[in-house]
Amino acid sequence: MRVYNFSAGPSMLPLEVLEQAQKDFLDYNGSGMSVTEMSHRSSFYDEIHKECLALFRELLNVPDNYDILLVQGGASTQFAAVPLNLLKKGKADYIVSGNFSNKAYQEACRYGDIRLAASSKDKTFTYIPKNVEFRDDIDYVHICHNNTIFGTKFNYVPECNCPVVADMSSSILSEPVDVSKYGVIYAGAQKNIAPAGVTLVIVRKDLISDGMEFCPTMLKWKTQAENDSLYNTPPAFAIYMAMLVLRHLKKLGGLTAMQKINQEKAALLYDYIDSSDFYTNSVVKEDRSLMNVPFVTPNADLDKKFVQEAAKAGFVSIKGHKLVGGMRASIYNAMPREGIVALIEFMKKFEQENK
Ligand SMILES: Cc1ncc(COP(=O)(O)O)c(C=O)c1O
Repeated sequence: MRVYNFSAGPSMLPLEVLEQAQKDFLDYNGSGMSVTEMSHRSSFYDEIHKECLALFRELLNVPDNYDILLVQGGASTQFAAVPLNLLKKGKADYIVSGNFSNKAYQEACRYGDIRLAASSKDKTFTYIPKNVEFRDDIDYVHICHNNTIFGTKFNYVPECNCPVVADMSSSILSEPVDVSKYGVIYAGAQKNIAPAGVTLVIVRKDLISDGMEFCPTMLKWKTQAENDSLYNTPPAFAIYMAMLVLRHLKKLGGLTAMQKINQEKAALLYDYIDSSDFYTNSVVKEDRSLMNVPFVTPNADLDKKFVQEAAKAGFVSIKGHKLVGGMRASIYNAMPREGIVALIEFMKKFEQENK
């Protein structure tokens, strides 16, 4: 039996995609091999690789002056790759709106003069800093677009006279994005794209260079751009899964359709939480994430009981991150509306029994 999996990542993949992968697993497209076994230089894999890149370009409407790279190491490796590739004057400004943007900031501090331009730590990251001022002479501004742990999302792109770099690990493919407003977008796969193993980097071509002199070959975006992300062995199976997910999203109507579905799904849950005097979500309303919904009951003992009883009822991985406590429902693209409706029914029952 499949459960409703509210994990923040790795998280649910569309059932249709999993079934297709199962069908293809032993013999991909008449090759007599699994994608996990085939050479990344074979014509079978080459088609997968090219289709995946083309679908990313089409669905995210990526302009021609941007390269799309498929790399390894997760979003965390990009925390280092960003400064290593972009620091020329040696300066960058960071907005810290949660745990991952803080990690990105800390990592960048190893490589240059990095300034904390704004932080929402003062209110335990329950809002997104706004009207932030940046230095004039910097190489880039970095933000984390969706804060997976705290359930907040940027609904604006910072204004500055340098490229904006965004970690979109937990919001990519959930809604359309105007790529032209960013210099670099990066995202780990394990929420809305594919299983863990591949990392998406979209980078404006004029920002691709040799980077800092000690930038490792494998972290240089130039290395990947010049080799169509085939400099070394790519995470072929994750890329194949990403291709299936992208085909699936295209069939559903692309990212405009996904945005509508995601807004409706999130509204169901937020509206219920807001109407209840038992559950609370403390994020500023205008900054709420469509993908990660943290909430608490009136006390920590009840939170613990909620998590245990939810798991027994088939709602798994709903425990909040240890930094926040309580619960967190991660409702990425692949979480069906029925999963949220069923969760709300469970929440109502739990409230009645424990009020
Ligand atoms: C917003 C965000 N950035 C970065 C990361 C770290 O990603 P990875 O595990 O791919 O390094 C995560 C992981 O959950 C995340 O949610």
